[in-house]
Amino acid sequence: MDRFRISGGTALHGEVTVSGAKNAALPILCASLLSSEPLELLDVPRLRDVGTMRKLLIQMGTRIETLEHQADGQERLRLTSDAMTHLQAPYEMVKTMRASVLVLGPMLARFGEALVSLPGGCAIGQRPVDQHIKGLAAMGAEMRIEHGYIKAQAKRLRGARIVTDMVTVTGTENLMMAAVLAEGTTVIDNAAREPEVVDLANCLIRMGARIEGAGTDRIVIHGVDRLGGAQHTIMADRIEAGTFLCAVAAAGGEVLVRRARSDMMGATLEKLREAGVQLLESEEGIRVTASRRPESVNFRTAPFPGLATDMQAQLMAVSAIAQGTSIITETIFENRFMHVQELRRLGAQIEVDGHTAIVKGVAELSGARVMATDLRASAGLVIAGLVAQGETEIDRIYHLDRGYDRMEQKLSAIGARVTRVTEKTPA
Ligand code: EPU
Repeated sequence: MDRFRISGGTALHGEVTVSGAKNAALPILCASLLSSEPLELLDVPRLRDVGTMRKLLIQMGTRIETLEHQADGQERLRLTSDAMTHLQAPYEMVKTMRASVLVLGPMLARFGEALVSLPGGCAIGQRPVDQHIKGLAAMGAEMRIEHGYIKAQAKRLRGARIVTDMVTVTGTENLMMAAVLAEGTTVIDNAAREPEVVDLANCLIRMGARIEGAGTDRIVIHGVDRLGGAQHTIMADRIEAGTFLCAVAAAGGEVLVRRARSDMMGATLEKLREAGVQLLESEEGIRVTASRRPESVNFRTAPFPGLATDMQAQLMAVSAIAQGTSIITETIFENRFMHVQELRRLGAQIEVDGHTAIVKGVAELSGARVMATDLRASAGLVIAGLVAQGETEIDRIYHLDRGYDRMEQKLSAIGARVTRVTEKTPA
């Protein structure tokens, strides 16, 4: 198992380029199931989760060709789903990556049937998929849970009005992908407004779908009989961008985060400005300058354009060394404070009361051995490690590799002292 070894205390300088977005790439890879014609995708990031999704699609019968290894480590892929053999997402895949459930909507819409394992519990919360199931049932599908699997059937889905009980990102994506091939018009109210939903909608529109309102809380989809091939470039990863901005906010320095765009970043930029960080947007990206210790900030996570739950751990790491006390409330997932214990090992002063963390900023953190517990928690620990005095070792870095492409190389290029230590497993 790999781990990161970080020698903290150096400011960051230079340029870093963010990769294609994990949470846009995953649903867009699944969109290839909606057509028998090829879907060509650019800027597909090289991540563990993308690898898992590719494996799942290949198991189902999709052909995936790498057309180009792009200069920045991303890939240009061609996916062709013209001869599907297994219309199933087995437990072994779904348990390693919940986003596998995104094959449900497209499979059902195009083939009239799907068998997808019900995801189990998850480290950050229960994360049920009842809204996906309810929405597909409203479109006329027969939905049953049998032997731990969601069994879905429908001759052809029908347009429906769906109001989701809460804002759900993959729920909105699954229903939108199902609705593009349904008969008639579907309205999704209380839809997720996340930029990744918009990127998926743009890709579907290129394939011939008729979708209005993506990016608002009402998405209207007029079903069509078939979709064709298309070419699409995956949007840049706003969470990776936000993670680098937080790294500079905590460690100090000046970095141009290429491909970062303020309209995608929701409330993250406001919070960083409140913390005293300078941010300057240009055509190329966002230049971040941090010349002094950050100020404390209070925030609550919320659906887009609110403060992303996927940025909570990274901003908490910044708050850990801020001047003053920050109050951080997590409203999306029940159990997304697992990094707190680990940040405490580095000397952070954090108390948790239910869904709220009270972070009393300290002037200095001290390096220690810590353990990554989930993807964004790992990113928070890396940021804390960059400022901690001495050496920090972060175990179980595979969590980080699920969603960040070669983070140690990108950070090293801007002056951080981070190395990946690969432990050989005994023969
Ligand atoms: N929820 C339900 N029922 C449902 C669907 C969701 O109760 O049917 C609840 C969830 O339990 C949660 C809330 O609704 O409390 C929001 O969950 P959502 O469905 O929006 O989350 P998701 O679609 O499973 C995506 C991202 C997550 C990100 C969340 C929130 C992908 C592949 N994943 O998950 O990303 O945290 O939206 O923005 O897009 C990450 O990248 O580290 C990550 C966890």
